[in-house]
Amino acid sequence: MKKKVVLITAGPTKEYIDPIRFISNDSSGKMGYLLAEESKKLGDVILISGPTCLKPPKGIKFIKVISASEMFNQVKKYFNKCDVFISCAAVSDYKVKNASKDKIKKTIGKLKLELISNPDILLEVSKEKYNNKRILVGFALETNNLIKNAQNKFIKKKLDIIIANEPSTINSDRSKGAIITEDKIKKFKSISKKSLAEIIIGDIRGVLTR
Ligand code: C5P
Repeated sequence: MKKKVVLITAGPTKEYIDPIRFISNDSSGKMGYLLAEESKKLGDVILISGPTCLKPPKGIKFIKVISASEMFNQVKKYFNKCDVFISCAAVSDYKVKNASKDKIKKTIGKLKLELISNPDILLEVSKEKYNNKRILVGFALETNNLIKNAQNKFIKKKLDIIIANEPSTINSDRSKGAIITEDKIKKFKSISKKSLAEIIIGDIRGVLTR
């Protein structure tokens, strides 16, 4: 197989309320970084990561971002060059409408924050899916109806593979869930994220050589 370019997003994003506080989630970035390491077997790797405590794998292009908008800008920059896009990041769905330039002081009573939607990066790039042969891989984490919700995302975001994982996966070294393709649901019990990364990259290789 010819060398491929694999673009990966990982980690959470931070949406600042003021210079000190932010909205985010508990994503550690572990799954995305392990996928980046494993993807070296397919070719060149570009990892766009939100804030994490992890050391990026050696021998890849590493781009650090903070917010979802920054992540989207970087994805747009590299998407056309990639053969495979793995959207592993836990992107904040909302950002603060009018983030304060100064630290917000304690106020009496309520402080109301107005939140507005962030771009859905995977959904946006999937709109170009049929203009090219790019392979799209997504993740879904759900507290209810995991498989059904993941299948809906699979269709809506025109994915080749979606990994449905349970909430216990977040910030853990292990994952539990299912790998869903058009015609298969491959369930897996608690396995290490390293093993899961190996299986996912194996499945992607299968799609690439189909
Ligand atoms: O948040 P949601 O469950 O819709 O996430 C499904 C997939 O879409 C994940 O692969 C995630 O990385 C991606 N996503 C994204 N931009 C968002 C929200 C989700 O790329 N704003």
